[in-house]
Amino acid sequence: MKNSMLSSAEIRIRFLEFFKKRGHAVLPSASLVPENDPSVLFNTAGMQPLVPYLMGQKHPLGNRLASCQKCVRTGDIEEVGNHKNLTFFEMLGNWSLGDYFKEDAIKWSYEFLTSKEEGLGLDPERLYVTVFEGDEDAPRDLEAVEIWKQYIPENRIYFLPKKNNWWSPGDNGPCGPDTEMFYDVTPDGLGEMTHNEYVAADEDGRVVEIWNDVFMQYEKRDGKVVGKLSQKNVDTGSGLERVTMLVQGKTNVYETDFFDQARSNLMIRTMEYTQNPEYIRWSRIILDHLRAALFLVSDGVVPSNKDQGYVLRRLVRRTVIYVQKIYKKTPHDIILPVVDSYANVYGEAYPNMLDVKATGYEVIRNEVEKFIKTLTTV
Ligand code: SER
Repeated sequence: MKNSMLSSAEIRIRFLEFFKKRGHAVLPSASLVPENDPSVLFNTAGMQPLVPYLMGQKHPLGNRLASCQKCVRTGDIEEVGNHKNLTFFEMLGNWSLGDYFKEDAIKWSYEFLTSKEEGLGLDPERLYVTVFEGDEDAPRDLEAVEIWKQYIPENRIYFLPKKNNWWSPGDNGPCGPDTEMFYDVTPDGLGEMTHNEYVAADEDGRVVEIWNDVFMQYEKRDGKVVGKLSQKNVDTGSGLERVTMLVQGKTNVYETDFFDQARSNLMIRTMEYTQNPEYIRWSRIILDHLRAALFLVSDGVVPSNKDQGYVLRRLVRRTVIYVQKIYKKTPHDIILPVVDSYANVYGEAYPNMLDVKATGYEVIRNEVEKFIKTLTTV
């Protein structure tokens, strides 16, 4: 795979530079805790802080925006530890607020993914694309197909229904059909695939989703599409950890450079303690949960019994459970170096991660101790 020298930090910068050059204002990541939206606990996508602007409000920085947004998703916490699920992740995204539409959105997605000079330098032969097949709410997206055909052969473009190719942040708000890009991660390459072969390849992870361009032009209320928005928007999102995994030629996100320091701190010790082959999954859960916990603390969350604080508490408690599975005790000298390494890795992109290094560790340590006490008194 190409561009194996790009670090995750370089990919983040490349993405923002690429869209800056194309007229986008670069926004800093908003806090993980939404500022004006009590309906969700966390920002789960780059577009979440931008909902009012997608609905028509004028953004002070213009109608082309880009960001790398910190996100937390807890819906699939039980999957964490496999090769690609993470509680905390960063989402790269660019937005058109009633400005450019499908033509430029698709062109720039393709260019960023494949350009060696300005983008990720991924192999175009490994790209597959899905588009919306159409239903009573919106037509079959033949327009997107025509645009895609300028870049990839038509037999790598697949029509799929709403459950795959439609995106909305929830039951209310902006939404629309999307076109998703997938990358072949098999060693030999999958080549041409029929529709059914492609669907099977997606189901068993031989292709992974790397980018989603949503053509947000509809509004949903109480789960139903009720009409068009006043403007046609573009909302894109690409998981930074996932693209980093591909660019760095890895087969799971925990082997990317985000985790290098933390992983070597943890794994070396782990192997001294257990022969159980499950230790790899357990260690990944610890790596994931401590990273998410530290980011939550850096955005002001404190452990509690409700809302964001409860999620933080749960992450720390689950960490303790897996640390104990491996070590049969909870040595703080396991947790501290992992927390430290994340502060180092993220300090440049998120300076408050350095400020929070000491307090973050204290908060996590206190919570660990509280939980251990509960365990021993039950
Ligand atoms: N909002 C869309 C997603 O999360 C595209 O960014 O996939």
